[in-house]
Amino acid sequence: MGRYAMLEARDVSLSYGATQALRDVSLRVEDGASVALMGASGSGKSSLLHCLAGVIVPDEGAVLIDGIDVTGLPDKDRSRFRLERMGVVFQFGDLVPELTLVENVMLPLQLLGRRTKQARSRARELLDLLGVADLADSRTGAVSGGQAQRAAVARAMVHEPRLVLADEPTGSLDSINAEAVLDALVDLTRGAGATLLVVTHDNVVASHLDTLVTLHDGRVLSAPVNV
Ligand SMILES: Nc1ncnc2c1ncn2[C@@H]1O[C@H](COP(=O)(O)OP(=O)(O)OP(=O)(O)O)[C@@H](O)[C@H]1O
Ligand SMILES: [Mg+2]
Repeated sequence: MGRYAMLEARDVSLSYGATQALRDVSLRVEDGASVALMGASGSGKSSLLHCLAGVIVPDEGAVLIDGIDVTGLPDKDRSRFRLERMGVVFQFGDLVPELTLVENVMLPLQLLGRRTKQARSRARELLDLLGVADLADSRTGAVSGGQAQRAAVARAMVHEPRLVLADEPTGSLDSINAEAVLDALVDLTRGAGATLLVVTHDNVVASHLDTLVTLHDGRVLSAPVNV
C-alpha cells in the first residue's frame, strides 16, 4: 500500500440550491484497486463522480488524487490535471457530435501533444478492442447510444490514465454487450495497473470489481466491502 491512496474523498458535501446531493462522503481507493459505486437513482453517484473528477468543486470537504488536493487547484490546473491523470466516462456522454468516433478518441492524445498519426492508430486500436472499429469514421451523432458509449470508454482509456472514472458506462447496452465493454474496461485498467471506479446499477458489473461502495441519500451507506 502506497503512502497515498490513488483516490480519496474527505467529508465531501455538495448541494444544488436546496437539494443536498452529498453529505460528508468519505472514500478511499488504493492504487490499482477497482470500486463499484452503487445506489438508487438520485442517491448522488454522478454528483460524487463529478467531484472526484474535479468537474465540480464540493461545498465542503476535499478530493485528493494521488495525494494531491485537487479541490484547491484553480479551474485551469484542475482541467489539465484531469487530462493528464484521469480518464472519465460521463453518464450522458460528452463526445463531440460533429467529429467521427476516431477523432473523438484521439482528442486526449492530441491535447497532450502526441503526433496525429500515432494518436489515430492508437485510437483505432482501442475502438477495435471495444468492438466499434467499423464505425471509426462515422460521426458520433450518427451512431447508437451504446456505440457512442463504447467510444467514450475508448476515449477515457486512450492516454493510459492512472485513474479511470466511469458513470454507468454500460447503461445503454444489453447484458451481453455490457459484459464485453466492462471486461475491456477492467482488463485495460488492470493491465495498466490503473485504478478504476465504475458507477453502476448492475450487480453483475459490480461483481467484476474489487470492492463496493453504496450511496443512500447522499451518504455512504456501507463501508467499502469485498464483493
Ligand atoms: N444540476 C443539478 N441541479 C439540481 N439538482 C441536481 C443536479 N444534478 C443532480 N441534482 C440532484 O441531486 C441529487 C443527486 O443526483 P445525482 O445525479 O448525483 O444522482 P445519481 O445517483 O447519479 O442518479 P442516477 O442513478 O439517476 O444517475 C438528486 O436529488 C438530483 O435531483
Ligand atoms: Mg447519475
